[in-house]
Amino acid sequence: MKLWMMLLILLLHLVVCVSLPAPSKVSISSLNMEHTLSFLPGPGTPPDARFTVQVLRLRKSQWRLLAACAQLTAGQKCNLTRAFKDRYEQYQARVQAFTLSQTSNWTVSEKFLPLTDTVLGPPDVSLSGCGDCLLLRLRVPIAMEISPTYRVHVQRTRDGVQFNLSLPYKEETVITYLQPGVEYCVTVSIWSIFNQNTVSSAPHCAFTSRPPLQELICCDARPAGCSLCSGAAAHSAALLRSAGIYCTEKMPIYNSVIHPSAMPVWQGCAH
Ligand SMILES: *[C@@H]1O[C@H](CO)[C@@H](O)[C@H](O)[C@H]1NC(C)=O
Ligand SMILES: *[C@@H]1O[C@H](CO)[C@@H](O)[C@H](O)[C@H]1NC(C)=O
Ligand SMILES: *[C@@H]1O[C@H](CO)[C@@H](O)[C@H](O)[C@H]1NC(C)=O
Repeated sequence: MKLWMMLLILLLHLVVCVSLPAPSKVSISSLNMEHTLSFLPGPGTPPDARFTVQVLRLRKSQWRLLAACAQLTAGQKCNLTRAFKDRYEQYQARVQAFTLSQTSNWTVSEKFLPLTDTVLGPPDVSLSGCGDCLLLRLRVPIAMEISPTYRVHVQRTRDGVQFNLSLPYKEETVITYLQPGVEYCVTVSIWSIFNQNTVSSAPHCAFTSRPPLQELICCDARPAGCSLCSGAAAHSAALLRSAGIYCTEKMPIYNSVIHPSAMPVWQGCAH
């Protein structure tokens, strides 16, 4: 072949080669150390185009083909979990569109460091009453080299009184000094010095202990003078009696399912 023909072919090849629009929105999302690459085809990309992914370990500065993501179609994602398996390494990924005769330029992702960039999902939470306390059981979503801290938000259901706790990771923690017979809700999130991308758990609610057996509404003769004698403990009943109000305890009205505030049981009162 003549030299000029070879040059022409080479030139044609170069001209034809990089002519597809480059992919856009190349981004890495990561939850609990599972990493996913997503991208969009550039505007005007033909429907038969495929996409190929390469990854770079920044310290090595050598792009590497990912066999599992060498022929993606538009809308497919690339699982980078294995390719980015070292938490302490910084990585990048890039995507190229291609057809039989054409390719696009590469579009490169942001740099990604698994340790700091993954989102830590909420721990598994279970909550139960233990008298004037709550027993909080937690399970981490992923193994972490350095024990994380937990941020626990506690809120009393009745009046919204709340406080926050920062606890070192333990499978079981007792939240103490609570009011017995009362419902609290907690939300928990992980906190680590390396990573503040965390998601809180949904609220978990529990009574510290069984709510009071009797929640009586007492009245003197006038309905406007209603007063609540909660608990009807012997001494408070006596107090009320000395104030001229008697609670009649017709029936036990404890119900573990119904919240106390939702059971305005009307009991007869006597002076
Ligand atoms: C590919 O990149 C080169 C250099 O950055 C640029 O000149 C060219 O226009 C790009 N091609 C396309 C199709 O975007
Ligand atoms: C991604 O790959 C990891 C490791 O091979 C695997 O555990 C995980 O289930 C994969 N995720 C998806 C969404 O396929
Ligand atoms: C507890 O923490 C949450 C957010 O983490 C905050 O909105 C709230 O104000 C804090 N409450 C108290 C009582 O510090």
